[in-house]
Amino acid sequence: MQQFDYTVIGGGPGGYVSAIRAAQLGFKVAVIEKRPTLGGTCVNVGCIPSKALLDSSEKYHAASHEFADHGINVGSVKIDVKKMMERKVSVVKELTDGLDFLIKKNKITVFRGTGTIQKASQEKVEIKVSGEKEETLESKYCIIATGSAPIAIPGMEIDEKQIITSDTAIALEKVPESMTIIGGGVIGLELGSVWNRLGTKVTIVEMLPDILMTLDGQMRSVARRTLQKQGLDFLFEHKVTEAKAGKKGVDIKVQDKNGEEKKINSEILLVSVGRNPYTDSLGAENVGVKINDRGRVEVDPHTLQTSVPNIYAIGDVIEGPMLAHKAEEEGVMVAENLAGKSGHVNYDTVPWVVYTWPEIAWVGKGEEQLKKEGIEYRTGKFLFRPNGRAKAMGQGDGQIKILADKRTDTVLGVAIVGPNGSELLAEAVIAMEFGASSEDIARTFHAHPTLSEVMKEAALDVDKRSLHS
Ligand code: NAI
Repeated sequence: MQQFDYTVIGGGPGGYVSAIRAAQLGFKVAVIEKRPTLGGTCVNVGCIPSKALLDSSEKYHAASHEFADHGINVGSVKIDVKKMMERKVSVVKELTDGLDFLIKKNKITVFRGTGTIQKASQEKVEIKVSGEKEETLESKYCIIATGSAPIAIPGMEIDEKQIITSDTAIALEKVPESMTIIGGGVIGLELGSVWNRLGTKVTIVEMLPDILMTLDGQMRSVARRTLQKQGLDFLFEHKVTEAKAGKKGVDIKVQDKNGEEKKINSEILLVSVGRNPYTDSLGAENVGVKINDRGRVEVDPHTLQTSVPNIYAIGDVIEGPMLAHKAEEEGVMVAENLAGKSGHVNYDTVPWVVYTWPEIAWVGKGEEQLKKEGIEYRTGKFLFRPNGRAKAMGQGDGQIKILADKRTDTVLGVAIVGPNGSELLAEAVIAMEFGASSEDIARTFHAHPTLSEVMKEAALDVDKRSLHS
């Protein structure tokens, strides 16, 4: 039986990053992964392929609608979906090949197959790998990083042809005429944007009164209006009650909050109503790893230790936002703590990004949350429209909003709807990590002309002294 110090079940961003950090710290490390490639949902069928398609569809949209403004005449623009998908596949392949290189470089052993915890004692955990061959390994520590899987709606059969999950929505062979999306969350908005730009009529059915309910309410309105302007249709406070796939597309029944029904017919129905933690075949019950009533592995929030001493869990399978970077930080923390270092995750600064265009990005709290917690705050806002760089780019939609503590001026939350919002957000995350005040941001050099000047102006506006409004 092979012996390891540190075995990770699941080779997604949480798992492989944790494995690399553990190897750097001198542990003998194994990763068990049932997919043929490392990278998990994110690299294989999530974040990365969807970003490849977002980028392709943005370019298509720009060529169709924006190039002429720059004096570039390209005639009629056509989309070659096959080529676009091939590019996406090669982007993913380059990254998964890169992961294989990193794993080898760090002398990590990869087992291909499903990992099931069999036994656990104070000294070691026994894990069975069921793959092409079956083998059992022993490890001092076991890290559960098994991620999540899409939630299915009871009674709605997903055939991955007409009624699909995001796995198929990133691999369609042609541009559908129409697509109804159940769920106005991150996947619905991103993949809805991709196909909308390519010409699909997209309708998003969301049971809540708005998109992205954890984002600041006013910024949510800015984001929603921008997306509606692009042609995305929303049915808020509606639920899909029935969907039947047939020769003439999918017949969908939706119901509003008063019980009123209407029918929609759509070529494709995408179900993106969230994800469930994935603990199938994990063997949690064999050793007494507790799973809560939401299906998440229970952990001590400071150490991420499960109810069994040598077993830890990270990422989507435990409480918290299902985000790759949250899983990565947790993976690093667990490895560092087990090596006697002081690993730490600051959950107050988890960044959120929705890769629509303009991008929607935020960190920290919104106004509603601050009011609920009785925290007094000041607000600073600035639009992208007057910013020189945004004007030169022809990308004036959106704004940045900063919320700072009324008494101490500490930054409590930053929300961005705007071009390159995902990259601009990094400044806000660092500011919050360092406990910066809005005055700190306002007095920091921001190169001219850059989009980041909108952040500086928003910070100045907290004190009502923005210079360009
Ligand atoms: P989500 O949790 O972001 O959104 C699901 C939405 O569906 C919610 O707004 C919810 O109110 C709505 N909903 C649920 N049941 C419904 C029903 N029966 N009818 C109508 N609406 C309903 O989940 P999503 O978009 O599926 O994404 C899954 C996970 O993947 C999320 O946790 C997300 O954080 C992560 N992800 C992150 C990305 C990013 O960071 N850019 C990109 C894609 C996914």
